[in-house]
Amino acid sequence: MSAQRGILIAFEGIDGAGKTTQLGRLARRLEAQGREVVCSREPTTGPWGRKIREAAGRLPLADELEAFTEDRRAHVAELIAPALARGAVVLLDRYYPSSAAYQGTRGDPALSVAAVLAHNEAFAPRPDLTLRIDVPVALGLARVGQRGAATPFETRATLEAVKGAFDQMRLPGLVHIDGVPDVDAVEAAVWATAAPVLGGAPA
Ligand code: TYD
Repeated sequence: MSAQRGILIAFEGIDGAGKTTQLGRLARRLEAQGREVVCSREPTTGPWGRKIREAAGRLPLADELEAFTEDRRAHVAELIAPALARGAVVLLDRYYPSSAAYQGTRGDPALSVAAVLAHNEAFAPRPDLTLRIDVPVALGLARVGQRGAATPFETRATLEAVKGAFDQMRLPGLVHIDGVPDVDAVEAAVWATAAPVLGGAPA
């Protein structure tokens, strides 16, 4: 993975944290500087991603983990690795820390957060920066509810476990950003954190 020339940034957090909005704002800033930016998300729109969405949280854990892993394997091979190889900035709306936080907290003692991270790091490039946008579960749920998009993934108990996993996660390049303030303030915090990693991008 060390041959990559681009920069990989993952946005993480519970549903309703504001990942998608902040990713879009960072992308626009970088594009305005003339950089090649590739935005993508997981689960993807590929065959495994479709299967995940159709199952809507009802898969047994082993099948769910396999689906997210195979979806990511294809995502890395087809989009992430080639974009990094040509020097692009790749912005991901969820990546393997989500597998650690969601599948790693489904209650299987053999599948800890650390085990799921290690499993993914065997094939997936490690992000140069993981921006974990942090909000209280009640706020995330309220935002998701406003979008009318609540899914079986997004119960309070699940999100509390997921938030706890993100709180504890040990991953080089993981930075926690407070997602409670208004969108412009969070954008400024994201930029202050990302600009030095992006090198050459004036703050
Ligand atoms: P989400 O971003 O909500 O997609 P969409 O809005 O398009 O439906 O992702 C769906 C859910 O998938 C989300 O609640 C988190 C979960 N997830 C995992 O459980 N493991 C993973 O590895 C990833 C990438 C996502």
